[in-house]
Amino acid sequence: MESITVRGNARLSGTVSVSGAKNASLPILAATLLASGTHRIGNVPDLRDVDTARRLLEKLGGRVRGHGVLDIETGKETTAEAPYDLVKTMRASILVLGPLLARVGRARVSLPGGCAIGERPVNLHLMAMERLGAEITLEHGYIEARAEKLRGALIPFEEPTVTGTANAMMAAVLAVGETTIENAACEPELVDLAGALATMGARIRGAGTKTVVIRGVKKLRPISYTVMPDRIEAGTLMTAAAMTRGDVLIEGAVPKHSASVMDKLREAGAVLEEEGSGLRVRGPGRLRSVDVKTGPYPAFPTDMQAQFMALLSVSRGLGVITETIFENRFMHAAELKRMGSDVVVEGNYAIVRGKKNLSGAEVMATDLRASASLVIAGLKAVGETIISRAYHLDRGYERLEEKLASLGARTSRVGA
Ligand code: EPZ
Repeated sequence: MESITVRGNARLSGTVSVSGAKNASLPILAATLLASGTHRIGNVPDLRDVDTARRLLEKLGGRVRGHGVLDIETGKETTAEAPYDLVKTMRASILVLGPLLARVGRARVSLPGGCAIGERPVNLHLMAMERLGAEITLEHGYIEARAEKLRGALIPFEEPTVTGTANAMMAAVLAVGETTIENAACEPELVDLAGALATMGARIRGAGTKTVVIRGVKKLRPISYTVMPDRIEAGTLMTAAAMTRGDVLIEGAVPKHSASVMDKLREAGAVLEEEGSGLRVRGPGRLRSVDVKTGPYPAFPTDMQAQFMALLSVSRGLGVITETIFENRFMHAAELKRMGSDVVVEGNYAIVRGKKNLSGAEVMATDLRASASLVIAGLKAVGETIISRAYHLDRGYERLEEKLASLGARTSRVGA
């Protein structure tokens, strides 16, 4: 199994580019099921999760060619089963539920099962499909969904759900009549999905706001579309630059997508300036501790929480992290403690007292963002850090260790 090694005391400098967004690519790839023909989707990152999405599309009767720019042929004959062996490796596979129901009137999708960061039920996805007229049963670990024809409806989410909103949008674009999603999630990735759907001929208003209105159409057409940059990868690189007294230009970063992260980095003492098609980040000698509270967009993203725990571990003072989205998203705390981090976890709070440096150690990645936090913590550790289970990192970062090495970090990948 592969590990990443990081030799500490790095000072990042130079220019790096952000890859395409994982959390926009996955729904947009699923959306290609809505229109038969050949779609060309560009700026798709080379990730394990994208590989899983490819295999899922092929399992459903499609053909996928290329890397970075994918040519996706969704056939006339689309099967409708998303099997457990794929769904268990990537919960986002649930994103085929809406498109399959809308396109072929049935779907058999494995329930995702457990997840390291929380229970993560899919009840809101099922509620949305039922509101649109689908009949849903749960049998033998599978969601069995059927609908002769979906009908527009009101879908009130009790709490904003990102992939739930995506599924509802993708189901509603081919439904008869109008659908209104209330308390929708507002993440930029949903605006990107709406952009792809509109390019297919869908009629959507209000994506990125709490109220999204979709007027169903009879047919959609295949598209060429370019996925947005990854704001979480951009945030991770910003944090690494800030905590290493770095001077880095992050090309492709979109400031408005990362406003809450940038505000916190500025509050901690980093300097962030728009420059050309990117963002320059300069880190001071030592950052000040700040408090962060995660929440649905535009609040501070839960997907940046772990990286900030690494940052607070080497900042001056005390910082409190409040995690409001997932009930078990502090697995990285125990691993950071192995590196000497002074962190105390109490329920959904983590209290971090900053130190000048961490010490290199052997640590284990437990989930995608936890692995990123260990890699950037290693940049500020004395000696070598070895992060095992690198496959977690590869789910959502396109060769992060190589990008950091291009900025002067001493990183490598070992084992096979
Ligand atoms: C998306 O997951 C992202 N994944 C996650 O990123 C991200 O952490 C999360 O949104 C929150 O921003 C993708 O886009 C593929 P939610 P999603 O539904 O859609 C509860 C990463 O690191 N809920 O918005 O699954 C849920 O338990 C990943 O890239 C229900 O109760 O998250 C959570 O507490 C990790 N019932 C809250 O809502 C439901 O049916 C928000 O979850 C659905 C969700």
